Amino acid sequence: MRGTWKKAVLAVLPLLAACATGGSQPAAATPKAPAATAAPATSAAPSPDSAGAVSGAPACSGRPTPAQTEGPYFKPGSPERASLVDPGIAGTRLLVSGRVFSTDCRPLGGAVLDFWQADGSGRYDNTGYRLRGHQAADGEGRYALTTVVPGEYPGRTEHIHVKVAAVGKPVLTTQLYFPGVARNASDGIFDPALVMNVGEGAGGRGAAFDFVLRP
Ligand SMILES: [Fe+2]
Repeated sequence: MRGTWKKAVLAVLPLLAACATGGSQPAAATPKAPAATAAPATSAAPSPDSAGAVSGAPACSGRPTPAQTEGPYFKPGSPERASLVDPGIAGTRLLVSGRVFSTDCRPLGGAVLDFWQADGSGRYDNTGYRLRGHQAADGEGRYALTTVVPGEYPGRTEHIHVKVAAVGKPVLTTQLYFPGVARNASDGIFDPALVMNVGEGAGGRGAAFDFVLRP
């Protein structure tokens, strides 16, 4: 199966490269965690397990996930990996998982999700690739990202950037947010439709979000 999504990554990576040079965007994903859902209206309440994973009833809304600005810190060429937690990365451990769908709710197996974010202190690594990585979704469109809760920085609430690319679909560039963060209210980019379904577990936080890509 690893070989399968490796092939999928290879198929989609040209899309990402094109986006990086053409002003659009990329993405990646990795299979591992339980399916989850992003659409706040349909997601089940999160029930984190000891690892912090969140299980939510998959309920594809069919509504395209809103796009958001890439911001100034995207870097093409991130390593392929499902965990961004390198040695020395401080912060509350976070597992983000979910699925990638089309608007007719077909899972987009092999979709590539490319994540980047600030560390727990609100700092981006703009010289290397700390807290940056891409992965491919499995055959059912599932991905799972192990990382830490990002810190706030001037003007911005807690958020994770991502580009999601699938063959035959426009690349989605967007950001994911956390519920109950006071700073959400004063962040002009924040969109409540992009708030993850978050729960607390013994090993950290678990968050669920499903992406729906436009045709
Ligand atoms: Fe950012």
